[in-house]
Amino acid sequence: MLIHFMSDTTSGTMSKSDARIADLRARKSRSAAGGGIARTNAQHAKGKLTARERLEELLDDGSFVEIDALVEHRCRDFGMDKNVIPGDGVVTGHGTINGKLVHCFAQDFTVYGGSLGEMHGLKICKILDLAVKTGTPVIGLNDSGGARIQEGVASLGSYAEIFFRNVRASGVIPQISVIMGPCAGGAVYSPAITDFVVMVDGTSHMFITGPEVIKTVTNESVTFDDLGGANTHAKRSGVTHFVADNDSDALSLVRDLVGRLPSNNLEKAPKLSVGDPIDRLCPSLDKIVPNDPTLPYDMIDVIEEVFDEGSFLEVQPDYAMNLVVGFARLGGESIGLVANQPKVLAGCLDIDASVKGARFVRFCDAFGIPLVTFTDVPGFLPGANQEWGGIIRHGAKLLYAYAEATVPKLTVITRKAYGGAYDVMSSKHIRGDYNVAWPTARLAVMGASGAVQILHRGRIESAGNPDQERARLIEEYEDAFANPYQAAALGFIDDVIEPAETRRKLIMALRTNLEKLEDRPKRRHGNLPL
Ligand code: HXC
Repeated sequence: MLIHFMSDTTSGTMSKSDARIADLRARKSRSAAGGGIARTNAQHAKGKLTARERLEELLDDGSFVEIDALVEHRCRDFGMDKNVIPGDGVVTGHGTINGKLVHCFAQDFTVYGGSLGEMHGLKICKILDLAVKTGTPVIGLNDSGGARIQEGVASLGSYAEIFFRNVRASGVIPQISVIMGPCAGGAVYSPAITDFVVMVDGTSHMFITGPEVIKTVTNESVTFDDLGGANTHAKRSGVTHFVADNDSDALSLVRDLVGRLPSNNLEKAPKLSVGDPIDRLCPSLDKIVPNDPTLPYDMIDVIEEVFDEGSFLEVQPDYAMNLVVGFARLGGESIGLVANQPKVLAGCLDIDASVKGARFVRFCDAFGIPLVTFTDVPGFLPGANQEWGGIIRHGAKLLYAYAEATVPKLTVITRKAYGGAYDVMSSKHIRGDYNVAWPTARLAVMGASGAVQILHRGRIESAGNPDQERARLIEEYEDAFANPYQAAALGFIDDVIEPAETRRKLIMALRTNLEKLEDRPKRRHGNLPL
């Protein structure tokens, strides 16, 4: 309600212009108060920050510029006409993260439970449009009861407008979703389309249907946390890429992530030198691969040794742990890393690892981030469940993603590169730009014991001493294939390098290939084996 103003000429009373400003301030502070003190206290009691506190922590001090603080809903049903809070339950605008412009929105759970009505949704749409127009990352802080029930299909319409914009912005600007409260029903699909999902442990939940509906429909009993908590989505479903202990940790993680990414698909990722010498040798790598090819080692040790000190940020660290993906820096350049992890399932590729790797490779390619691959892979994981689960089409996703990628692709084979997985892991044949192997590498159709069993079963069975004969044949096979030199002779790898030189060689290769030009035929889009 506008306050009445007095005549400018009346001395001692508020002038007309002062009154207008006071009115504006009153409206703004009504918007800033959100759902009021009691609801704000309830939010804090749950260990959650408010929408505005979150934006303050996310953005550089004083950089937030709010848009649409005065937007109001248009619902006149269910008494909503008497319950109008300017801002409509979402704080939107832009600010900077370490000086880089970003657009952002934060749902305010204290206003109608953060539920998304028509105007709330359209505010988010405006932010997405501005982010695309200005070529800046968009960050959504989600804390919402979902579709605003009182607004019916108007709410669903706004959701779909958001989904459409998320899809249109995909591969154009980085999109990051932070889940800091409930995110249920179809509302989950906006975060799912965005590039990265961060969940806060203990206070965030994502599911299509909640425990009560599940109990009614399938008679399964499951808690909120088991169904859709942060750990479930980090370990089982792979929906989330990061888990944070609390709101502040989540926001500082987003600041770190944004610093590694370009603002849009036409920009280069920002370079940041941490002073790690580019010619530093890594002597510990000379002995990291065990002599016995069946023994594991930790690929994280290789990664931490090779990349710039302290620069590694693992993505989905608890999901499909047989494949490591993440961001790191190499001589200051931001790169995307993909590596088999011999410590888990011997580094095999299975369904989950293939999908995890494919999505990460495609993100990096979309945003021009060079890819570095460390290969130690005995093949695709055998098993009826893998076959029935579709390892053929899921494994094809990783192959497709690597073959489609035109960013610089550098590959180091540390040990095994067997079978189809050799081809898939950024091999020369699918246009790796710099492919090298350590002297411990073994490039073959399969491991020695399997190969010998197939090639020489009759001979082994009829031998006087089958075990001795098998061992002899395995040795013969290993002499031929348990090394990188057949591949080097064919030019399938560019060099065999001493492990200690890996960092230096990769930095040189990266610098050589940073500006490379590579194209694929123009088309509407490829047909990724989904
Ligand atoms: C309108 C909502 C709301 C909603 C919560 N509120 N969700 N108002 N529409 N969807 C209101 C509550 O009425 C309450 O108002 C205030 O927000 C806080 O909610 P509480 O229930 O008191 O909070 P809490 O106990 O923390 O529980 C939070 C909750 C619960 C788990 C989110 O509110 C809930 O289950 N809400 C409904 C969730 C849901 O089913 N949404 C629809 C999903 S389907 P007062 O005034 O009393 O404080 C969907 C489809 C999207 O979203 C489709 C997209 C295509």
